Amino acid sequence: MAGNAENTLVLVFHPSLESESVANRKLAEAARGVDGVTVRDVYALYPDGKIDVAAEQAELLKADRIIWQFPVYWYSSPSLLKKWEDEVLAYGWAYGPGGDNLAGKKIMCAVTAGSTEDEYQHDGRFRATMDETLNPMRITTEYVGAQWVEPFAVYACTPDGLTEERLADAAERYAEVLRG
Ligand SMILES: Cc1cc2nc3c(=O)[nH]c(=O)nc-3n(C[C@H](O)[C@H](O)[C@H](O)COP(=O)(O)O)c2cc1C
Repeated sequence: MAGNAENTLVLVFHPSLESESVANRKLAEAARGVDGVTVRDVYALYPDGKIDVAAEQAELLKADRIIWQFPVYWYSSPSLLKKWEDEVLAYGWAYGPGGDNLAGKKIMCAVTAGSTEDEYQHDGRFRATMDETLNPMRITTEYVGAQWVEPFAVYACTPDGLTEERLADAAERYAEVLRG
């Protein structure tokens, strides 16, 4: 099929995507293979942590759909994603007067977690689902007038839990979601 009419921007926030990552590297590779998808390894772009806000905003403007892809770190995101939100989603640009640049775009989280899906349940160890864990990102999305899309999650991303087969299956499912 000719595929996706949407321009999709996948922003990957992993501190060492090309060296230590297994799960996010595989997902990023799958994303790169989908038509209309641009992947940015944000940690690699800004090794000193200094974000080029104008460049990030320009990329966002081109996208119909934005994916925040990251490993769950302490029931949240790696710190550069938080910094990226604080700086890129600026007053007068993403919210406030004239701040409607993200209005109507879709935003989705694509996350990997070390723990199991059973642990991310109300009756599980963390007493919260992944959707609930990602609540700040959902509220942020809605605050800037964008549309929250159900997260894509891969659980048990540990050396023991993540078999080649599970990883390949996750990458295929991710590509399917990105194809739309
Ligand atoms: C600093 C740090 C914090 C982590 N916190 C969590 C966590 O809160 N919940 C969880 O399920 N996994 C947690 N993990 C496990 C990572 O989510 C897991 O290693 C990652 O998703 C695997 O993806 P990768 O192969 O791309 O690195 C943490 C890992 C690190 C290094």
